[in-house]
Amino acid sequence: MVKKIPETLFWKDNVLLLLNQLELPYKVTYKECKNYKDVINAIKVMIVRGAPAIGVAAAYGMLLAGIKSAGLSSSAKLVFMKKAANDLISSRPTAVNLKWAVEKMMKVVEQSLKLNPENYISILYESATDIYNEDILTNMKMSEFGARLLKKDSVVITHCNAGALATAGYGTALGMIRTAYKNGKIKNVFVDETRPYLQGARLTAWELQQEKIPYTLITDNMAGYMMKTEKVDAVIVGADRIAMNGDVANKVGTYSLSILAKYHKIPFYVVAPSSTVDFATLYGIKIKIEERSADEVLKINGRSIAPKDTQVRYPGFDITPASNITMIITEKGVYKPNKISILKKVK
Ligand code: MRU
Repeated sequence: MVKKIPETLFWKDNVLLLLNQLELPYKVTYKECKNYKDVINAIKVMIVRGAPAIGVAAAYGMLLAGIKSAGLSSSAKLVFMKKAANDLISSRPTAVNLKWAVEKMMKVVEQSLKLNPENYISILYESATDIYNEDILTNMKMSEFGARLLKKDSVVITHCNAGALATAGYGTALGMIRTAYKNGKIKNVFVDETRPYLQGARLTAWELQQEKIPYTLITDNMAGYMMKTEKVDAVIVGADRIAMNGDVANKVGTYSLSILAKYHKIPFYVVAPSSTVDFATLYGIKIKIEERSADEVLKINGRSIAPKDTQVRYPGFDITPASNITMIITEKGVYKPNKISILKKVK
């Protein structure tokens, strides 16, 4: 099942290999990262993307930094690793999984330098690999919970790509759709193309096609009409950061979709690991929204689509208010958005 989609990332002979998502769906190629700075660049240009996947990639980025720092004294190692951690965290600002994974690795760095310095690299390797493996298990668990919420032969809409490609494997929103399909609960998936980076058209459509799950590609502005004229049973999306009050940051366009779903009385599900919940952020409005290069809006496949010197706004994400979300599905259970802060206490 997971194996039909090429691995999003893997570690081999001290190199992190990232499936180059800029080349999909046309070519399956891997980008080699031999240095943590290669990982930073790959995250920035979106060779690897999707909140959990960039978290896992950054964990291996910390391992690469650890290897680079091997010859330094303990105190110099610590300084080097703190700088690497900060640089990795700031490579993309909205997805909190990045910060979560890097901070987890930084704790391991501090502990191993204190207690077990001779096994520093192997301890970092084990920790990055645990983060990788946990991500896949977590996705499968939440997908199981989520699939239970759908009825037989459902028609659903998804936005962006929250699939195997956005995680270490299996996916969050698309993971739920995969499990539901296996259980006879999916008749068709409407895939928003997701302008401007086209994660829906390029990545989600490709994943669904690989697994022979029926789908129909629509442009983002068709979702309302589909809801009005066709039977749509649920909207299922991922998340980049969830605030304590249940507001959700996700790919720009998610907010509009949530309003459409509310108007048409269609359940709106957010599927995300508990590492996407940001216990330090009380409200969605406090979440930093990434602004990306105008070129991604002005060009399609390298070709300009607007007059020269056109001014552009390009927030990469938006905030969906808790009041527009029916349920948030995590590996620890299914929660009403305004109850998500409970996760702080759930082991
Ligand atoms: O800019 P991207 O492609 O990294 O944005 C991805 C999304 O918005 C996903 O929905 C989110 O990260 C969840 S991925 C499981």
